[in-house]
Amino acid sequence: MKVLVIGRGGREHALCWKLKQSPRVTAVYCAPGNAGTALDVQNVPIEPGDHRGLVQFAKREGIGLTVVGPEEPLTKGVVDLFIREGLRIFGPRQDAAELEGSKVFAKDLMRQAGIPTADYRIFRGAPDAEHYILSREVALIVRSRGRSTIRNTIHCRTAAETLEAVERILDPREMLSPGVQVEIEDRGARKVFSTIAEAREFVLSCPLGLVVKADGLAAGKGVYVCSTLRQALDAIDQIMVRRIYGQAGDRVLIEEKLDGRETSVLALTDGRTIIPLASSQDYKRALDGDEGPNTGGMGAFSPTPMVTADLMQNVEREILVPIVHALKRSRRPFRGVLYAGLMLTNQGPKVLEFNVRFGDPETQVILMRLKSDILDALEAVVDERLDTIDLQWDARPAVTVVMAAEGYPGHYERNRGIQNIAAADRLPDVKVFHAGTKLRPDPEVGRDPRILSDGGRVLNVTALGDDLAQARERAYEAVRTIRFPGSVYRRDIAEGIVEADGA
Ligand code: AMP
Ligand code: GLY
Repeated sequence: MKVLVIGRGGREHALCWKLKQSPRVTAVYCAPGNAGTALDVQNVPIEPGDHRGLVQFAKREGIGLTVVGPEEPLTKGVVDLFIREGLRIFGPRQDAAELEGSKVFAKDLMRQAGIPTADYRIFRGAPDAEHYILSREVALIVRSRGRSTIRNTIHCRTAAETLEAVERILDPREMLSPGVQVEIEDRGARKVFSTIAEAREFVLSCPLGLVVKADGLAAGKGVYVCSTLRQALDAIDQIMVRRIYGQAGDRVLIEEKLDGRETSVLALTDGRTIIPLASSQDYKRALDGDEGPNTGGMGAFSPTPMVTADLMQNVEREILVPIVHALKRSRRPFRGVLYAGLMLTNQGPKVLEFNVRFGDPETQVILMRLKSDILDALEAVVDERLDTIDLQWDARPAVTVVMAAEGYPGHYERNRGIQNIAAADRLPDVKVFHAGTKLRPDPEVGRDPRILSDGGRVLNVTALGDDLAQARERAYEAVRTIRFPGSVYRRDIAEGIVEADGA
């Protein structure tokens, strides 16, 4: 069988690499792929958004199965088009992909199905959202100082009440209240202000735990974890007033902020049977010690002791089974891979988000450990006979370290030459998956370096080991082998993880 993988990242390289190992696969194509997929399989210069072009290619080449990597083509209906054209494709249809494409849809479905998730409210306009934020509890005391005619002490429950009290004391036109000041008491601490603007900023700096989210896809952005009223108001301003995510910001969710540790669970499902994949843990922050900005993922390892057998059972029973049933009941049967992003709170796991695709870079470590033929599993999902599949896993742990371009996730340079990838690949149980690379376009074949950086996350250096420490050691040895000027990577992937017994 010939197979086609849609996408250009490390996840897609890992899928291509694993599919190529299937004895039933005769050719693997990647559209559009990267330098890694060009070397391991065959690239096709078709963008993931060119659904018609992909269909034409699949028909012309007689592709037996297409596998979709990223969410965007899924939420835009690539699966529906392939199915209409009589082609086999792995991934959910557009209506089921709404689970990732619309956070409002996902939350409402979770609420209906009784799936544990943060409390939330939905807003369609900035004024309502701002009003809600300002109605959060702050408990401040306002008093006048100086020559004010207002003498009482005003106990304010919310930010809105506090701001109102301040404006009763300090005249907005300032000059009408010379010598008048306002004192705000916050849990015993008192501060005095002469202008409304200063008092307002103080009130807005009050701590609160809210998360503001744009409804639609925002390329992994669009989620603001806010610790003050000011941050929450700024998030509304960016999403709904400046509309930096366009239509994705037509609606916002404001959620309660959850505390705990984050992890994720991925599972294959054909809409009836659910098979969880090996557990994995990714690292979202850019810098060591989980500092710095959020990224698409800077590394991962599998299995993770955070996902115990008990937790996995709980997630299946309380989250995966109910969401798959809820989708079916709403006539949006889900076939593909479900990714549940979880917060492990002291009330148990709660869903932060669902993705409708393989995680990146989780897939790199998961597929490194998959012993079964992935084609069998993906076809079983498409043909709705996942109950016939039993996945076998390598007991050895895997670690992947993301080598990124300096500056990522902010501005970074492309077109840096990279050397020694082949040498790294030859180290025992190491595989270097390419994420943001391309082959040098010049005709001078063989000119070194042939491989150029072409993205923020550039390489996913992945290794297996007898234990996590060895997998980690091997991955970092491979990283040190690669010559990639101006690259950065986290040094603490899988560091200090105490392996669970028998993991
Ligand atoms: P999402 O894309 O919804 O998973 O959000 C991205 C990140 O924001 C998550 O990985 C969490 O770190 C954080 N986050 C999202 N929702 C919440 C929440 N309700 N409480 C705390 N953190 C959250
Ligand atoms: N690694 C996070 C994701 O794939 O969404």
